[in-house]
Amino acid sequence: MSNGAMPKPEVSDRADAPRHVAIIMDGNGRWAAARGLPRAEGHRRGVEALRKVVRASHELGISYLTIFSFSSENWSRPASEIGDLFGLLRRFIRNDLATLHADGVRVRVIGERGGLESDICALLTEAEELTRNNTRLTLVVAFNYGSRQEIANAAQRLAREVAEGRRDPATITPEVLGSYLDAPDIPDPDLIIRTSGEQRLSNFLMWQAAYSELVFVPIHWPDFDKAALESAIAEYATRERRFGGLVAKNAS
Ligand code: FPP
Repeated sequence: MSNGAMPKPEVSDRADAPRHVAIIMDGNGRWAAARGLPRAEGHRRGVEALRKVVRASHELGISYLTIFSFSSENWSRPASEIGDLFGLLRRFIRNDLATLHADGVRVRVIGERGGLESDICALLTEAEELTRNNTRLTLVVAFNYGSRQEIANAAQRLAREVAEGRRDPATITPEVLGSYLDAPDIPDPDLIIRTSGEQRLSNFLMWQAAYSELVFVPIHWPDFDKAALESAIAEYATRERRFGGLVAKNAS
């Protein structure tokens, strides 16, 4: 991802720079279809766009980047396409992990590990372990992830504590439930971007998105680049964030 020292962040001291950007990388299939290419080629070009955006995120002073790589609903796709997406994840980790590590990127993974092939689980764990002390940018990979399942898992754990007499139900506040989600130490996304013109969350970070600004961009994911990220951030900077209150702009 880089051949030398990472450049200094360009906007980290701006009050309106989002600390956490989350992206629904949509439109790989349509990008490929528009060019008469197989869907797999769209996903492959999607990984190239991802590489560029990880690097741009650091350059733009973003601390957390969450990407929706494989949703729990994606299992309904043809087996060959699921195989392509898993193959890309394998290759992404094998080829890019050393560079991500050298660039100071910490990799975190959210989603269900159960049901994934053991080599995929091992690669995800290896990426998390190798990069655990990195601090420049945290890349949160949502893989086999669905927000409703994440919330249901948290509810199950809390219900078990109540059933075993270890918890009073009255103590289950939003803060407590939030602390049982997959990555409770990561701040909620300030900005969620979805490419390809679709305007919905599709079961992505629904708890964490309560006060996120949503920016929908018309281009397909393989065409997304640093300029597109900057323009989404510029749109975010025009929004007045009130968090249910009256004035506080960009409070967090
Ligand atoms: C949406 O495009 C994208 C996905 C389902 C997966 C996103 C995956 C990548 C960018 C590559 C894999 C990522 C890693 C980290 C290996 P779509 O197929 O839904 O496009 P369409 O809506 O145009 O059909």
